[in-house]
Amino acid sequence: SSNQMWGGRFAAGPDAIMEAINASIGFDKRLAAQDIAGSRAHAAMLATQGIVSDNDAEAIREGLLTVLSEIEGGTFEFSTALEDIHMNVEARLKEIIGEPAGRLHTGRSRNDQVATDFKLWVRDQIDAAVSGLEALQRALLTQAEVGADWVMPGFTHLQTAQPVTWGHHMMAYVEMFGRDASRLADARARMNECPLGAAALAGTSFPIDREATARDLGFDRPAANSLDAVSDRDFALEFLGVASICAMHLSRMAEELVIWSSAQFRFVTLSDRFSTGSSIMPQKKNPDAAELIRAKIGRIFGANVALMMVMKGLPLAYSKDMQEDKEQVFDAADNLMLALAAMEGMVRDMAANRAALHAAAGSGFSTATDLADWLVRVLNMPFREAHHVTGSLVALAESRGCDLPDLSLEDMQGVHGAITADVFGVLGVENSVASRVSYGGTAPEQVRAQVARWKERLG
Ligand code: ARG
Repeated sequence: SSNQMWGGRFAAGPDAIMEAINASIGFDKRLAAQDIAGSRAHAAMLATQGIVSDNDAEAIREGLLTVLSEIEGGTFEFSTALEDIHMNVEARLKEIIGEPAGRLHTGRSRNDQVATDFKLWVRDQIDAAVSGLEALQRALLTQAEVGADWVMPGFTHLQTAQPVTWGHHMMAYVEMFGRDASRLADARARMNECPLGAAALAGTSFPIDREATARDLGFDRPAANSLDAVSDRDFALEFLGVASICAMHLSRMAEELVIWSSAQFRFVTLSDRFSTGSSIMPQKKNPDAAELIRAKIGRIFGANVALMMVMKGLPLAYSKDMQEDKEQVFDAADNLMLALAAMEGMVRDMAANRAALHAAAGSGFSTATDLADWLVRVLNMPFREAHHVTGSLVALAESRGCDLPDLSLEDMQGVHGAITADVFGVLGVENSVASRVSYGGTAPEQVRAQVARWKERLG
């Protein structure tokens, strides 16, 4: 039989394959709550504007609540023949309230309807992601506070560079996740314009009030151009772009946790709750959550590229290609939320091994820069010469199989006669980090200042 929404022009119903390729209900049922909120706002506005009667609007608005409760209660029967969530909801509304249901679609189209629903959904995800990021930041802050003065190696090229503190390293991630949250907030502000009332593409001849529906749905204003409003998926792409950057941060941190939890590093012990064992090797405790965060991030990047590809060749206005926006965004959002929650759990539960961090901090000649700086400061050596002298001392220590503080004063004076015993005062890793007092530096007092600033920001 032909379609009840547009059967007037059709003699035959669709082929089964047509129905299969066309239907989106399998995934866009996730927009049910947003669809019903949008329709309720639209119906209220139609009544206020005198386009439908108050009685009809009231029946529509009540009926939609019934539909919502059926969907939430799991009793709603979704139909593939009805294609998508919009037509499933409207068809059920008709079964419940009869004739007035047919008046709901006055002055709108599925094109503005789906853009509105999807924006509302993405907006909710942004709010959830910001909360997830803040929870993760709090977990990092707690780690940073406990270990504000715990010394560990800082790396460049994954080679020992200079000692830093555990708290400083944790706070680096707090900054990154803070920027992610602020990018999400920017994207939210930019997308918060309501497409509803753009209708199919050209607007409508009915005297609708777009300001009213925009306000009702929590938008800042109606989208200004009806063609743009139904053609645009920037909001979804921007979410995916911002999510990708955030995911990249999560993946880097996951990579560090994988490295740090290895027997060779032992910087952290992950909790049993966020680890798995091996079915054959009894000693194993694997950082699977971190590995899966690292891996799932690929899906978020993939979604971003996939939707870019969908959009890049589309003429204005709506094309059915755009229906492919939703699965990408749903999957990316689901995995972002899961990755945020898993990372928060791992960070909250993990124990940094202070002794292992400290032992590693001192190896690899990590205070060589402090030694060179001392030669400049105390002996007034040009830095380039100090660099050279220190390099010779490192080579000497390396040949002895010891670290810089283990060299004797005689050894040092053999390289440069003016060196005095005072030099040992800067060679300890504690001295090294304590001296990095520049703003944003690794000195414990600077780290505590970072923690205090963020605690205030997060409230
Ligand atoms: N299911 C469609 C989508 O997700 C809804 C919009 C359909 N509009 C249309 N003119 N066929 O994009």
